[in-house]
Amino acid sequence: MVKICCIGAGYVGGPTMAVIALKCPSVEVAVVDISAPRINAWNSDQLPIYEPGLDDVVKECRGRNLFFSTDVEKHVFEADIVFVSVNTPTKTQGLGAGKAADLTYWESAARVIADVSKSNKIVVEKSTVPVKTAEAIEKILTHNSKGIKFQILSNPEFLAEGTAIKDLFNPDRVLIGGRETPEGQKAIQALKDVYAHWVPEDRILTTNLWSAELSKLAANAFLAQRISSVNAMSALCEATGANISQVAYAVGTDSRIGPKFLNGSVGFGGSCFQKDILNLVYICECNGLPEVAEYWKQVIKINDYQKSRFVNRVVASMFNTVSSKKIAILGFAFKKDTGDTRETPAIDVCKGLLGDKARLSIYDPQVTEDQIQRDLTMKKFDWDHPLHLQPMSPTTVKQVTVVWDAYEATKDAHGICILTEWDEFKTLDYQRIYEGMQKPAFVFDGRNIVDAEKLREIGFIVYAIGKPLDAWLKDMPAIA
Ligand code: NAI
Repeated sequence: MVKICCIGAGYVGGPTMAVIALKCPSVEVAVVDISAPRINAWNSDQLPIYEPGLDDVVKECRGRNLFFSTDVEKHVFEADIVFVSVNTPTKTQGLGAGKAADLTYWESAARVIADVSKSNKIVVEKSTVPVKTAEAIEKILTHNSKGIKFQILSNPEFLAEGTAIKDLFNPDRVLIGGRETPEGQKAIQALKDVYAHWVPEDRILTTNLWSAELSKLAANAFLAQRISSVNAMSALCEATGANISQVAYAVGTDSRIGPKFLNGSVGFGGSCFQKDILNLVYICECNGLPEVAEYWKQVIKINDYQKSRFVNRVVASMFNTVSSKKIAILGFAFKKDTGDTRETPAIDVCKGLLGDKARLSIYDPQVTEDQIQRDLTMKKFDWDHPLHLQPMSPTTVKQVTVVWDAYEATKDAHGICILTEWDEFKTLDYQRIYEGMQKPAFVFDGRNIVDAEKLREIGFIVYAIGKPLDAWLKDMPAIA
């Protein structure tokens, strides 16, 4: 029986391994982590991450051929294939601070593999890593190997949170990069055989190591660039009276461009886009390509601009001050169907409003009060470390309350900011909400999910990203 071990039981390690266990009953899968609370949660009824469909997959395999454990050494020792899916945060100190990937966790995982292995193994990079990481990992492993042979493969993960299980069941492609040697090709084949249990052969792409590593960074950079492109257009739409939905539709019907991922919004978030682009920028700079680095940097700049533009709209519309005003924040996760708040635009928007002394009442169906308070007090990039190594937040933000109901959040509020596109926000009783609010009552739709015209009929002043502005908003221009 093939044995797989995955180091790192996070958003990637947990779901990917659960699906491998489900689809390959003949393979034994152990997911290990240094965080005991995380492993305990994986072994409980309350999984550590929310992802539609995940519970069912885990329930079916756990204890059969899927195991979660803190005994990293034991499971690495037993495995034929070791996936590494640990955090690769942005460095906050030293060389490359603010851009380069911090490979501390990766290196310590590699050293454990080298230390405990007594048989040849395939080591698979699942984490997103800088190009040429495999070479560094190879060196750590071979210099400590005591005669054991390791083959390094790059198998970046393309799942999207919120649709992870769907994506894993039916991936657009699985990418496997390896050495162009007979041993490297043999290792590629072994991993291909695992995926071939459910992924059609023509969707399993094989490349050299560096192409696979770079493809992941490139794919995320392209996706983020699409969002920043639409958002850049949304600012121009507001200035000219064009409508971003109409423009995006017209643009997206060109089959070379395609319709997906073209919604105007308050900006992208999530653990990957910004981090991976910063990483790409750093690699370009290190390779003497400053123009290429500048090009990709702009994608992040537009994203930051979009968030501050949104805050400025809110403040400018409300008579240039939100001091002491209650603002309801609907949605805190970086997108719907996940509880993940890493790099969510809600953090910057809330911080911007708090900077203007607003009082915030926040509701998100999947995010806890503790998480929100941590996010609003944590330093940039600190979130991307294992939970028990993150600094504890010493204080809570007093001007923030977290509630478990959208109606409670909006009661007596002066304005509403919709920051996550949860379906339930589309069908709220806005008439009832309007009646409970201070007047004039504002809705700032950062995801373009409400029917702005209907809300205007009720009496709201509505701002929707990239849509023609209300007369009210036109009279109160926001200078970013
Ligand atoms: P995560 O933070 O949810 O999980 C990482 C886990 O690794 C944590 O539970 C941590 O305790 C554990 N860990 C760290 N060092 C360890 C060690 N030495 N031994 C054992 N466990 C260790 O992170 P997530 O989101 O799963 O991301 C993992 C990697 O996958 C990152 O490189 C990320 O960029 C990449 N990725 C993430 C995607 C996402 O949607 N979240 C999608 C595709 C790639």
